[in-house]
Amino acid sequence: MNKNLRKAVIAGNWKMNKTRPEAKALIEELKPLVAGADCGVVICVPYTNLETALEATKGTNIAVGAENCHWAESGAFTGEISAAMLKELGVQYVVIGHSERRQYFGETDVTVQKRVRAALDAGLQVILCIGELLEQREAGITEEIVGMQTKVALGGVTEAELKNIILAYEPVWAIGTGKTATAQQANEVNHYIRTVVEGLYGKAAADAITIQYGGSMNAKNAEELLDQPDVDGGLIGGASLKAPDFAAIVKAASR
Ligand code: PGA
Repeated sequence: MNKNLRKAVIAGNWKMNKTRPEAKALIEELKPLVAGADCGVVICVPYTNLETALEATKGTNIAVGAENCHWAESGAFTGEISAAMLKELGVQYVVIGHSERRQYFGETDVTVQKRVRAALDAGLQVILCIGELLEQREAGITEEIVGMQTKVALGGVTEAELKNIILAYEPVWAIGTGKTATAQQANEVNHYIRTVVEGLYGKAAADAITIQYGGSMNAKNAEELLDQPDVDGGLIGGASLKAPDFAAIVKAASR
């Protein structure tokens, strides 16, 4: 597997943080710090910040994403946002299947698959999250879990559509806990996920797909994680809320 075949992407996942003025200030601070990045740079922000982020990043190398979208085109789904609404705003990326959605909002592999379908149909690029719980890792079923999540989520996705998908391996026990997977653990699972993609789509597609690691990646540990042959970037929560920290991760991915 050749790492040079694919693009590293560092994506921030702001979660439920930042008012509009705060968002604008963070982006203004970030812009000069990541201007020379030799990797993809994405910020995924709350719906209320999308327009602010799109405006503030105009003409820069920072792309904007949402943190979720609904699977229906429109209709009676109070509180939801469709992929077409995001596309119309000018949003490029959407996070789907984040473990917090799975954990707190009843997201299942099947609803993840439906959201992926809707996002692709609307012309969005998907950051698709998968990852095991601590008890699943301890039970020795990490590969079964991430393999199943990957296969179900990609159900119906064609090889041509796969270029619009980034996978993000995020062990749930490492998210927001300060417990990072070791670089070796991250690489092992990322590599396994690549073999699952190879089984579904063949070697060229597996070589080309960007597979991020996420879970307490920060300015200090990013370099070691990103140096791994199967780690093609990161999905960054906490550290994406501080411009210098996020920029340091972008720099580590740009080497
Ligand atoms: P964290 O979050 O970097 O704060 O662990 C990562 C994520 O949930 O995407």
